[in-house]
Amino acid sequence: METIVATVDNNVNSHQTYLQAVHYLNNSEVVAFPTETVYGLGAVATDEVAVKRIFEAKGRPSDNPLIVHIGTVEEVNDYIEEMPAVAKKCMEAFWPGPLTIVMKAKPGVLAKSVTAGLMTVGVRMPDHPVALALLQTLKKPLAAPSANRSGKPSPTRAEHVAKDLNGIIPYIIDGGATGIGIESTVLDVTVDVPVILRPGGVTKEMLETVIGSVVEPTQAEQKIESTPKAPGMKYTHYAPDAPVYLIDQETDIQQAISQLQAQGHKVALLAPYSFENAGADYFFSLGEQANAEQMGEYLYDALRRCDQTDATLILAMAIEKNGVGTAIMNRLEKAAGEKWFRL
Ligand code: TXA
Ligand code: MG
Repeated sequence: METIVATVDNNVNSHQTYLQAVHYLNNSEVVAFPTETVYGLGAVATDEVAVKRIFEAKGRPSDNPLIVHIGTVEEVNDYIEEMPAVAKKCMEAFWPGPLTIVMKAKPGVLAKSVTAGLMTVGVRMPDHPVALALLQTLKKPLAAPSANRSGKPSPTRAEHVAKDLNGIIPYIIDGGATGIGIESTVLDVTVDVPVILRPGGVTKEMLETVIGSVVEPTQAEQKIESTPKAPGMKYTHYAPDAPVYLIDQETDIQQAISQLQAQGHKVALLAPYSFENAGADYFFSLGEQANAEQMGEYLYDALRRCDQTDATLILAMAIEKNGVGTAIMNRLEKAAGEKWFRL
């Protein structure tokens, strides 16, 4: 299959691109498109044949449900059984935006594989002009996971999507680099006290100012069987080819690198730009020190760039677990399989 990459910006006739994408989607095909978080791989969420193609293209386990993306807030009522008061408040405060709200699904409306057999569905309205233009031209909901092969870091650029899915999907809309760079917060509001199933750009603190108490299970709590989890969180994620080790900010980085190099390693370092001259074989900047937003923006691109090197080990510098730092560390701990480098 030939994969077409269509660029949309203010200088080209983007409308043609949206019409072509809609044509593919209405013919049960999948299309990759940018959102404010990461690129998504979309299929019409009511079309079982189309949704199955997402799972095939990604190599995604069938028990992992998909997020339904909508182009207007009102549409949400078509796909959910009831709207809890907290959900309404969240929509008013955070939509369009990086918050997926898990609610009871209306039976028999969405393709079965979207919800992967669950009674609930995660819905979000993305805050990206290209995603919204596509949805509003299509006038249907899009089921869309991140547009990477399962296990790989989510794509934050159209080139990342092409690297993973070239020849496998027909159409990629290139809207440039995404802004936030990590996936949406997933919030389950079907329980008494809402639970964050996946941390993201909308933080616990931000949610609590709008809806009061929210539960955010710690890394340790997530390992307990009875803790509510997003089905997808149990799988390996965000993994480049070489093993990733987290390294504490307090560690002597130069010494760590020399020690690893003495063992014969080629080391790639992902850290704030002030560590550029720490002696790593490859260095990928994560922006300014202690700036979680910038780190989110650069993280997946940096992890993917490691695959273009002959690094045998990747060191990624940790950040404080507060605000967006919680989401960053959630992704990094998964990328590293929780391995830490200590001198
Ligand atoms: O920012 C994002 O959320 C991106 C963009 C494309 O919108 N999408 C994304 O989708 O990250 P995906 O499929 O890579 O991750 C969705 C996560 C998975 O961990 C999945 O298990 C969880 O959300 N999820 C989806 N529906 C759910 C449900 N009904 N209950 C619990 N978890 C759900
Ligand atoms: Mg994903």
